[in-house]
Amino acid sequence: MRKAKVAGVGHYVPENVVTNDDLAKTIDTSDEWITERTGIKERRYFNPDKDTVANMSARASEMALDRAGLSAQDIDFIVFATITPDYFFPGSGVLLQRELGLESIGALDLRNACSGFIYALSVADQFIKTGMYSNILVVGAEIQSSALDMTTAGRNTNVIFADGAGAAVLVPSENNSEVLSTHLHSDGRFAEELYVKDPGSSRQVRLSHDLIEGNSFNVHMNGNGVFKHAVTRFEEVINEALATNGMTTEQIDLLIPHQANLRISQFIQKKLGLSDDQVFNNIMRFGNTTAASIPIAMSEAWAEGKIKEDQLLCLAAFGSGFTWASALIRW
Ligand code: UT7
Repeated sequence: MRKAKVAGVGHYVPENVVTNDDLAKTIDTSDEWITERTGIKERRYFNPDKDTVANMSARASEMALDRAGLSAQDIDFIVFATITPDYFFPGSGVLLQRELGLESIGALDLRNACSGFIYALSVADQFIKTGMYSNILVVGAEIQSSALDMTTAGRNTNVIFADGAGAAVLVPSENNSEVLSTHLHSDGRFAEELYVKDPGSSRQVRLSHDLIEGNSFNVHMNGNGVFKHAVTRFEEVINEALATNGMTTEQIDLLIPHQANLRISQFIQKKLGLSDDQVFNNIMRFGNTTAASIPIAMSEAWAEGKIKEDQLLCLAAFGSGFTWASALIRW
């Protein structure tokens, strides 16, 4: 069977930097609280006159293609992970296809929140293995800031979530570089622990004045509950990936956890006995960008020389759904 490898990674974040002190001007919060509980110092918010999920993902894709030594015309399929598409429908995959000037290739959208990028990577890996497609663009991109309750009532979400885009190019591999395995899980019993309820299609009237006056179209999260499940599932799914490949934590050259909360990353690092050099975090500068967080981190880590040929990269995520996932990649 064919194998797939990551040939290039890229990212794009909006220019607009929002610091903790900026938020504290209008919300009852502080730089001290946010830093201590989440590790976040600043994040990026989109500019409504300029940024869209589609055009941010196009910039990230161009960087990934350039680093892979390919052009957009070489791509034969797109897998796009986002829970914040520019339109209710169609999905963002077709908008990215249009932005890149491509005409008829397939574009698949996935809505698996923080685990979305690993789900997308897994789908692309299967398509390459079966021979159905060869050069696949795998994207995670979000504009979360417009779904946040920016008042004090929303302070357990508005200090965390943010905007950005990341992309990876997957191609067939003829050497040791490969996606070794991916592991996907979900538990829908907890769907409402972290969700945006509206505008929901099962309402008689999808968008009403009552709904606009409420805040059911904002992100809602039971932070404590999510935190507790996250630390357990992260550890479990990383161990599952290692066990599948007969490997141990010492063999991980770099773990890139979904950037949910620095305290979650540090907790997992400690539980798995990993050194600081084995774990990559950039949540301090970008906040939690949902499906975009892993490819943005992969792109930065690669650019900083922290992911090199033949090294073992582990990706892991947990989020809304609940969904959780991992991937082991020989770079
Ligand atoms: O990306 C996908 C998954 N998402 C996550 O993994 C997020 C998981 N959860 C978390 O990261 C954390 O639960 C939060 C950072 C959201 C909250 O931290 P916490 O340590 O769990 O705080 P808490 O919700 O237990 O709240 C403790 C206190 C409360 O005040 P009282 O009731 O003790 O007086 C909150 O009202 O902190 C208060 N609080 C804040 N204070 C200042 C909550 N948010 C803020 C805030 N600034 N932004």
